[in-house]
Amino acid sequence: MRMLRSTITLAHSLALLVIAGFITPNTVIRAAQLNGEKVSIHHVESSNCKECHKKIYGQWKGSMHANSTALKDPIHGAFYQQVIGDPLKEGLRKNGKYPVCLQCHAPNAAKDGKTKLDSKAAYSEGINCVACHTLKKFKGIKSPSSKMQLGISAYETSTILQGANAFLHEQGEAGDKVRAAIEESGDLNPHLGKDNQGNSYLSTEDSKALDFPMEKNTLFQTSNVCMGCHERRNNFLGVPLCATGDEFIADKSNETCQSCHMPVNDGVMDHSMEGGHSVAMLRRSIRLDISSVSKGDKLAVEVTLKNNQPHNVPTAAPFRNMYIKVTALAKDGSVVWRNFEKHPMKEEPKSYFYYHLADDEGNLATPPKATQVVADSRLRAYEKRNIVYEMPLKGLYSVRAELYYNLLWPGLVKKLNHLPDKLKSAKRIAWGETVIGCIQ
Ligand code: HEC
Ligand code: HEC
Ligand code: HEC
Ligand code: HEC
Ligand code: HEC
Repeated sequence: MRMLRSTITLAHSLALLVIAGFITPNTVIRAAQLNGEKVSIHHVESSNCKECHKKIYGQWKGSMHANSTALKDPIHGAFYQQVIGDPLKEGLRKNGKYPVCLQCHAPNAAKDGKTKLDSKAAYSEGINCVACHTLKKFKGIKSPSSKMQLGISAYETSTILQGANAFLHEQGEAGDKVRAAIEESGDLNPHLGKDNQGNSYLSTEDSKALDFPMEKNTLFQTSNVCMGCHERRNNFLGVPLCATGDEFIADKSNETCQSCHMPVNDGVMDHSMEGGHSVAMLRRSIRLDISSVSKGDKLAVEVTLKNNQPHNVPTAAPFRNMYIKVTALAKDGSVVWRNFEKHPMKEEPKSYFYYHLADDEGNLATPPKATQVVADSRLRAYEKRNIVYEMPLKGLYSVRAELYYNLLWPGLVKKLNHLPDKLKSAKRIAWGETVIGCIQ
């Protein structure tokens, strides 16, 4: 495969052509083509990008974005089935309307107003390459008439691929002149599919000749490229479920989402976009410190949690939660004290970090049924929280604090018992120990 010499040379040659008057400002950009035929860009499946973007394709393939539909994400699937219906059926409606979930979880199907998600690979792939790389402008999640417009409906989209440093390709005579000049200089937009000898860039048999013009768009270097789907979502009763964007805006952070969620990995910007499904990501989220002081016949142990994120931890899906387990041990390792027996929710609320959704009576309710938020004890953006535990000093040797993260509330784990264990089990993400010594 022939690689480009450099983007800079190309940018220069384009700039020169503009100055020389070859490109008129209102030339029409060619539509995407596959095998020489025009195609709707949102039907282009990610395998068409794989040949040249192997690493990114591999990272994306394992991400929750590639597994975001009810066909692939078992947690989303369970709720989708309950609230909307069978993802293999066409024409599903909720309160007479197209299911809003698909605007975020299956944006290419939403563009066509379709609900049978296995009818095109570009639908079942969920948030695939073209779903993001055709976002042109973020309009905000509220329309001028104050209605919610979520997911891709929060964006103007383009029929041309978008990228932070892309190459613009023009149609017609002006475009031909651009291409001729670029060919002469040896630089060619790789998304035209052919090198300057007319050979296809694609080598393997199953790859398809493609022609995808691309446009430069700095939206990709801002958090707004994520906000349409990540800013906020309410349930059908108006109760806020996810609000990562609100948490973030409230914090006025200068960091972009990409700075943490798309670090450079293996020479490319990582498209795994990890979060709560990744223990490595979770382990970098919280710092845990532990110290102790004795007070008469008692020991006061202070556990400090520092959230290093510009959003809540846990953030997003309302059933994410964490708890601290504190265990005091005797010298022989036997447990002499612990902060709770079964679960801290009722036994010791200060050790439980969660978003408490409830029904009218105040009982825990699932996201679709919640009518109110009773409490929210998650760690706020950059929050530092000190929690003090008092225990009898006698017989104590050491005290251990462990922070556990769960994708689901305990009640949901019971309800969704069919899910694989890795989605139901608690992950230890931070811990520490303080040794007091042998006190008689
Ligand atoms: C024939 C090879 C080839 C194919 C197929 C291909 N690309 Fe590219 N693409 C490249 C090369 C080469 C570059 C420039 C170097 C780089 O950034 O890796 C590039 C750059 C990009 C960029 C970065 C532009 C920027 O902002 O700097 C994006 C985004 C992109 N491609 C998206 C896609 C998508 C989406 C598809 C599938 C619809 C695709 N590409 C298919 C070769 C290809
Ligand atoms: C505004 C965009 C948006 C809409 C609309 C939306 N979701 Fe989501 N959903 C998300 C995002 C973003 C996440 C990821 C948050 C996270 O990882 O915690 C998510 C995560 C989920 C999860 C958790 C998945 C997991 O792996 O734990 C479930 C369940 C879910 N959504 C169900 C639904 C259902 C059902 C609907 C429609 C009634 C819906 N969502 C509508 C954006 C949306
Ligand atoms: C969730 C949205 C999203 C999805 C899905 C996505 N991208 Fe990207 N991609 C981005 C953003 C945002 C950037 C720019 C990051 C920056 O410039 O800070 C980017 C950058 C790139 C780049 C330039 C990377 C570099 O290191 O120079 C390429 C190439 C690319 N994407 C290709 C792809 C391909 C191929 C796929 C599908 C396999 C894909 N993207 C899926 C959002 C996405
Ligand atoms: C078109 C909508 C859309 C866009 C744009 C989008 N996301 Fe997502 N994202 C989702 C949905 C839907 C999920 C949840 C998938 C699931 O769990 O079923 C998700 C999940 C995630 C997760 C959670 C992964 C996990 O382990 O649970 C992270 C992190 C994330 N997105 C980051 C980003 C970032 C950063 C951007 C911007 C560069 C972005 N997303 C752009 C829709 C989107
Ligand atoms: C300083 C680094 C950092 C920045 C900046 C950041 N995040 Fe995160 N994010 C994390 C870490 C670490 C986690 C894992 C802990 C957690 O789930 O809260 C995470 C988790 C998430 C999750 C996953 C929640 C889940 O349930 O799986 C989503 C969604 C997310 N971030 C979206 C965003 C969005 C959108 C932005 C930009 C507005 C952003 N993040 C900015 C570090 C960051």
